[in-house]
Amino acid sequence: MSDLYRFGISLDKDLIEAFDRHIKTQGYQSRSEALRDLIREELLRKTREEGGTVAGAIVMTYDHHKRELVNRLLDIQHDFHDLIISTQHVHLDHGNCLEVIAVKGSAPKIEKLATNLKVLVGVKHLNLSVTATD
Ligand code: NI
Repeated sequence: MSDLYRFGISLDKDLIEAFDRHIKTQGYQSRSEALRDLIREELLRKTREEGGTVAGAIVMTYDHHKRELVNRLLDIQHDFHDLIISTQHVHLDHGNCLEVIAVKGSAPKIEKLATNLKVLVGVKHLNLSVTATD
């Protein structure tokens, strides 16, 4: 376990009260844990901005009946094969597929992969969720 470092913060009363109300509704047990998550979120934002390495998942639904679409989706995934860890395909119903693509690598390349998939006609919804690798 890493060493704990303690420090004090000076904040306006209104600001800390608003923060406390917010983290209470989120379910945090302490300010420390809420602050840790805020710091991690900011560091992840910086990593993405600077083109660092991230991990994540692309979750998308698409029209099963567009045959050319399936080929395009596969071609694009092969173009970005170095980023893709695994894919899971779910036949949601007669006409819709759900695909979850686990990724790890350069943040801009992952965003490019997600965009290339998202813009295809027949892709109904796509969400990219990104997290830190450390
Ligand atoms: Ni399917």
